[in-house]
Amino acid sequence: MSRQLFVTTALPYANAGFHIGHMMEYIQADTWVRFQRMQGVNVDFVCADDTHGAPIMIAAEKAGKTPQQFVADIAAGRKQYLDGFHISFDNWHSTDAPENHEMAREIYRKLRDLSSAEGGSLIEVRTIEQFFDPQKNMFLPDRYIKGECPKCHAKDQYGDNCEVCGSVYAPTDLINPFSVLSGAKPELKNSEHFFFKLSDPRCVEFLEDWTQNPNKPGNPKLQPEVANKIKEWFTVRTNPDGTTSEGLGDWDISRDAPYFGIEIPDAPGKYFYVWLDAPVGYLASLKNLLTKRGVDFDAYMANPDLEQYHFIGKDIVTFHTLFWPAMLKFSGRKTPDNVFVHGFLTVNNGEKMSKSRGTGLDPLKYLSLGMNPEWLRYYLAAKLSARNEDIDFNANDFMARVNSDLIGKYVNIASRAAGFINKKFGGRLAATPTFELAIRYEASGGTQGTPHVDMSDPMLVQNQSPLAALLSDTLRMCQEAYEERNTGLATRLIMSAADAVNAYVDLKKPWILAKDPEQADLLHEACSVVIQAFRILTICLKPILPSVASEVEKFLNVDRLDWAAAHQTLAAGHVIGEYQHLMQRVTPEQLDALFEPKEPVQAVDSAGEAPETIATIPGGEAIAPTITIDDFAKIDLRIAKIVNCEAVEGSTKLLRLTLDAGEGRMRNVFSGIASMYKPEELVGQFTVLVANLAPRKMKFGISEGMVMAASHGDEKANPGIYILNPWPGAQPGMRIH
Ligand code: MSP
Ligand code: ZN
Repeated sequence: MSRQLFVTTALPYANAGFHIGHMMEYIQADTWVRFQRMQGVNVDFVCADDTHGAPIMIAAEKAGKTPQQFVADIAAGRKQYLDGFHISFDNWHSTDAPENHEMAREIYRKLRDLSSAEGGSLIEVRTIEQFFDPQKNMFLPDRYIKGECPKCHAKDQYGDNCEVCGSVYAPTDLINPFSVLSGAKPELKNSEHFFFKLSDPRCVEFLEDWTQNPNKPGNPKLQPEVANKIKEWFTVRTNPDGTTSEGLGDWDISRDAPYFGIEIPDAPGKYFYVWLDAPVGYLASLKNLLTKRGVDFDAYMANPDLEQYHFIGKDIVTFHTLFWPAMLKFSGRKTPDNVFVHGFLTVNNGEKMSKSRGTGLDPLKYLSLGMNPEWLRYYLAAKLSARNEDIDFNANDFMARVNSDLIGKYVNIASRAAGFINKKFGGRLAATPTFELAIRYEASGGTQGTPHVDMSDPMLVQNQSPLAALLSDTLRMCQEAYEERNTGLATRLIMSAADAVNAYVDLKKPWILAKDPEQADLLHEACSVVIQAFRILTICLKPILPSVASEVEKFLNVDRLDWAAAHQTLAAGHVIGEYQHLMQRVTPEQLDALFEPKEPVQAVDSAGEAPETIATIPGGEAIAPTITIDDFAKIDLRIAKIVNCEAVEGSTKLLRLTLDAGEGRMRNVFSGIASMYKPEELVGQFTVLVANLAPRKMKFGISEGMVMAASHGDEKANPGIYILNPWPGAQPGMRIH
């Protein structure tokens, strides 16, 4: 009986489109899933939007939408990314769907109602003291409270840690705390919270065994580096702020209304913390898929041979290896068979991407430039291994690997043989008996170990059987590498086999054989061997390049290529189709366009239409809708001194300003004024800073505010941008009212 797999990727927050880090995770998982399907394994591969939590509720409010509307709009944008990069999910669902509400509540009830014979309830209610925003009428998550750092006194720091000195503290330690939502001074208020008792000996014992005994049947074989990290949770450890924690702590799983989430049974006004119901979304999405198929979910899950795998990034390991398995285990459900952890993707040596907004490489822009999605699939596959390691997308490396390996080595093989077969032999393949014999012999387990063709020995490569032996070994070793998610190894094996095939062509020299009619048989056989070899390389690459592989299936005039038939060669007399070039090269222009900073968005008036450019419109831009004095007061404008100014390497538009706004620290601000001012002209000048603008991560660093400058609405017709300069007497730090 063939294996049955249930595979997921992490459920992305439904607050934005995908960034390139999300795509990496989907490509890694999709490659593995396609590999399994090619072996005849049944796979159900699902994902969903992670819709709940305070940030999404607040983002929806800002956008003037209900949270339901907000997440539905995000969901509507998913397809273009997933189809665009050939991600083969069987289902995409939502954690706000009824299946998830129902199942999350059911799991909770099980944990709450464990009988005393079973060791008693794992849910406990406790009163905690928490900051409350009296204006917004809601409890504030740590990230929504700011104030002065208790250690280094840096202003404007988050409630959980200081970005200036790095210390970690509770929001209640902040000096002069304020709510990020309203600016109001938060008040301490008591609230009842629900806790999952992870510190209970039942949980500790189960989790320690589950994560640390990889050889016990039923336990996952976690990556060693992941298991080691988790081990720390079971021992006394020192926190970054010097305090110590002892083992697993209980987990706060409730939040107070208003909250976008799932209401806790028998506790009106209390909601599950988003991370309680998010992983349940894996099961909800599966259930939704099975219902559409008419399959019973409970029966499916009861299959003792079912294997459940989660692909995730390194930042969410705790949720998947502690909280989630404990929730499943103690509610009497199946626990995952493994959790596959990948590192983070950075772009052009950039910093780690922000959660909601990736930097650098926008997947939709990539597609809209006509860049081939399989270039990216190949490049990421070549860089990824089974280890939890960060990888970097580097533009030059990308171009080299795609152009010289993928196209130079693999794609070109087909074009080196197909023309002769088509023109000289009516598309018919010759018999390749030696090749065939070697492939079959190898398939029966003939050789073991690494590919053994010595390419410096022309006699070996020139001969069909060692070439076939190499390809056969490549098939077997690729299968192992894919199973282990070591796609980096798989691509290296495939490329070295492609080198051998190219060496074979170089030695046979079909272009010379073709000149001599007496050599027609030799030409026919050599080119047929090359086509056989190309078919095998295509099988090896198919999990990574599904679309190219399907073009090759048409070209070779064969059914679906898979692993089961890999060792069956094409028969003598088989007719192949016309060869059409399978893939273009990446150009430097495409990469330049991909990384060029975003065009500034054109100003729009309140009706959402581009402003008209008739003469009565001042400065080429209609006056914005009326605001109140309170609206204006939200904008904190300050006099700042430009203490330093320099050009930004790699940008013709930006200058980097170092500003003193009287805060006892300097601010780094980027401004698009390089076309107008020389850096040295500005040093020592005073200007106006928007001092409470959220910091923005740019390609070249973080911009901590914005300097004010005047420009015409129609920049093309009226170029020029002019910074503001106060009258003498104004001092750094003075507010502009
Ligand atoms: N909603 C949670 C997951 C809930 S799972 C029950 C979440 N969402 S996320 O959108 O922030 O991240 C989704 C996945 O993308 C995570 O596995 C995360 O590790 C991964 N990545 C986010 N940024 C990434 C990179 N820069 N590189 C690679 N993967 C990254 O966390
Ligand atoms: Zn500090």
